[in-house]
Amino acid sequence: MKFAFIIDPIARLDPGHDSSVALMEAAQVLGHEVWITQFTQLGVTAGQAMATLQPVTLTPVTLGGGDQSAPEGQRWEAVPNWYQLGESVYQPLDTMDAVFMRTDPPVTVPYLYTTYVLDYVDPNKTLVINSPAGLRAANEKMYALQFTEAIPETIVSRDKQVIRDTVHRWGKAVLKPLGGKAGEGILFLADGDPNLNSMVEISTHQGLEPVMIQTYLPEAKDGDKRVILLNGEPIGAVNRIPTGSEFRGNMAVGGRVAKVAVTERDREISQQLAPRLRQDGLIFVGIDIIGGYLTEVNVTSPTGIREIDRLDGVQLGYQVIKWAVDAIKALGKG
Ligand SMILES: Nc1ncnc2c1ncn2[C@@H]1O[C@H](COP(=O)(O)OP(=O)(O)O)[C@@H](O)[C@H]1O
Ligand SMILES: [Mg+2]
Repeated sequence: MKFAFIIDPIARLDPGHDSSVALMEAAQVLGHEVWITQFTQLGVTAGQAMATLQPVTLTPVTLGGGDQSAPEGQRWEAVPNWYQLGESVYQPLDTMDAVFMRTDPPVTVPYLYTTYVLDYVDPNKTLVINSPAGLRAANEKMYALQFTEAIPETIVSRDKQVIRDTVHRWGKAVLKPLGGKAGEGILFLADGDPNLNSMVEISTHQGLEPVMIQTYLPEAKDGDKRVILLNGEPIGAVNRIPTGSEFRGNMAVGGRVAKVAVTERDREISQQLAPRLRQDGLIFVGIDIIGGYLTEVNVTSPTGIREIDRLDGVQLGYQVIKWAVDAIKALGKG
C-alpha cells in the first residue's frame, strides 16, 4: 500500500524522538511505500486534493547506549543520512491509500486552509488520519472541556477581572495559551503575585485573546502522563517528570521520561473520550493526564511513540500502521 505523511521539513525531524518518523519507518518495514509532503505543498485541481509527493526510504533507528536491562539509559540512534529521497511528483492525494497529517502546531490559518484542501481527498479511496474535520473541531486545549468529569476545574476567559477572581479562589493556577504546544507560554499563577496582572495582559494580548486557566494540580511534580490512543483505545503511556526548578513536564523543556503503566483511571478517561474521538475521525491521539485528570487532547502531531517503544519494548508505530491497513481494507481496497 501507499502511505503519505504530511510533515515538517524532513531534515528538521529528530528520528530518535519524532513519532512521525516512527510511523514512516513502521510503514516501510511492513512493506508499504512511504511518501512525504508538506502542508505548504498541497492544493486542489478539478475537485481533487493534490500534493507534491516525494518517495522516501529510511534507515531505521537502533537502540544504543546503556545496557539492554536498563532501558531508561538507552536511546535511539540514527545513521547520519537516515533518509533518502526520490523524485517529486505533483499528483492527486487519493493515489495514496492513507495520508497522515502530521504538521506540528501551532494551528495557524494556513494550517486550517490545509484541512480544507484535505476535505477534497476522496474518503472512499484514501484514509486521512486525523480527519480534517476532526482537526478543525479539536482545539487541543478546548476539546477537553466537554469531558467535564475528567478535567480539573478550568475556565477560558480573556477578562482580567474574571481571571484574577478565579486565581484568588483557587490560590494557585496554570495559564495556558489556547494554541500552545510543548510547554510554550504555560505560566504558573499564584494569588497575590505582583506580576499577575502583567502576565494576564501579555498572555491575552491586552484582553484580545482568551486563555485557559486551570486549577494547579500538585501531582504535576510526579509527572504528566502521555497516553497514546488508537481509535479511542489506549495502546501505551509514558510519564514526563519536571526537572530542576521547572514546573512543566514537557520533554521539550527538559522533562525526564519514565516508564509508566496505563491505569484503570486512564482507561476510564479514554472510554469517556472514545465515542467522540471516533465520531470526529481522531484516530491517532495523545492525551495528557496529571494526577488522574485529563488536561489536554493532542490531535495534530502527538509525540511519545519512540519513548514508549524504548521503555516498554513495544512497537506502537507498527500497531498504528496495521490498524490503518485494516481500515483501508474495510474501504474495499488493498
Ligand atoms: N493543571 C495543571 N497543574 C499543574 N501543572 C500543569 C497543569 N496543566 C499543565 N501543567 C504542566 O504544564 C505542562 C504543559 O501543559 P499542557 O496543558 O500539556 O500544554 P502543552 O503540552 O500543549 O504545552 C504539563 O506538561 C504540566 O507539567
Ligand atoms: Mg502537553
